[in-house]
Amino acid sequence: MCSLHMAKAPTILAIESSCDETSAAVVHQGKVLNNIIATQSIHENYGGVVPELASRAHQSNIVPVVDEALKNAGITKNNLDAIAFTQGPGLLGALLVGTSFAKAMALALDIPLIAVDHMQAHVLAHFIEPPYPEFPFLCLTVSGGHTQILLVRSHLDMQVVGRTRDDAVGEAFDKIAKLLGFPYPGGPLLDQMAGKGNPDAYEFPQTQVDGLDFSFSGIKTAVLYFLRDALKSNENFVEQQLADICASVQKTLIQMLFQKLEAAANKFDISEIAVAGGVSANSGLRQGLQELARSRNWQSYIPEFQYCTDNAAMIAITAHFKYLEGQFADLQTGPNPRLAL
Ligand code: KG4
Ligand code: ZN
Repeated sequence: MCSLHMAKAPTILAIESSCDETSAAVVHQGKVLNNIIATQSIHENYGGVVPELASRAHQSNIVPVVDEALKNAGITKNNLDAIAFTQGPGLLGALLVGTSFAKAMALALDIPLIAVDHMQAHVLAHFIEPPYPEFPFLCLTVSGGHTQILLVRSHLDMQVVGRTRDDAVGEAFDKIAKLLGFPYPGGPLLDQMAGKGNPDAYEFPQTQVDGLDFSFSGIKTAVLYFLRDALKSNENFVEQQLADICASVQKTLIQMLFQKLEAAANKFDISEIAVAGGVSANSGLRQGLQELARSRNWQSYIPEFQYCTDNAAMIAITAHFKYLEGQFADLQTGPNPRLAL
């Protein structure tokens, strides 16, 4: 499309389908009007996301979810200036549903297509509603699939400066929660139980990694061996000590995150600190960040809960910034499960 015909204040429909939420949102003049999310509960029966079931659920959810987003925004598809979709990273089959749908819609309406990086969108969720972080800022993105520290110079210029070398922190929460008998995804349930326990009751080893990188697979194994030993002498150990175990695990995982976040803040001499991704819903992390921010004189930012977990509102706001820069995708663009910033 000729840039002369681009709307200055575009209306964009955005679609997110990278994992197990089918979501659509409309952004108008940089303001996100809604955030419709269909969560797939079918995976609870399997202890984790089953890719093929996720793809099928996206297929049945996508039309009603998009319809609702347009109706809720009070617009028809003819009012749209562009269609945005999550290109990756994520599950191939799941991404394919959103990508194909967006491409077909952009082609039919003869409007531009915008491909969005899911991890960039988690960071830009901070621009859905004020207060906005000031550039440059650091963003700790913590989800079920990723743990990254990004140096964010502007809306579309960001660089990964630290990342996990194995499990993501959300994955560690979920896997340890599973060892303790919680259903998937156990992270939020572990968090709830941790609120009733003593975080200093038990100590778990923290894997040391150079620089700003993380490693979370060791603590999962440490908890596994700890439980095996404790259960040998008391078969009711987990039930009796559940709250204390959860509180201690949560404290350790958060300490590991904050240690690297502080190191990054020191290294880049930045005091604007943002946290994004599903794990930023964790109550220990939220409270810990507030305390750390007070003691370090940081300005800290965590988006509203609905914008922390996977959602199309963050895809929509990212698409808005990409539209203004004329960053469009062509119809050959496909999903990229390993897309990296
Ligand atoms: O960002 P997200 O919704 O999806 C991914 O892109 O992965 O993050 C989901 C992850 C899951 O691992 C879930 O257990 C974790 O975020 N999570 C939590 C909490 N709420 C969600 N982990 C710990 N405490 C919570 N309150
Ligand atoms: Zn995500």
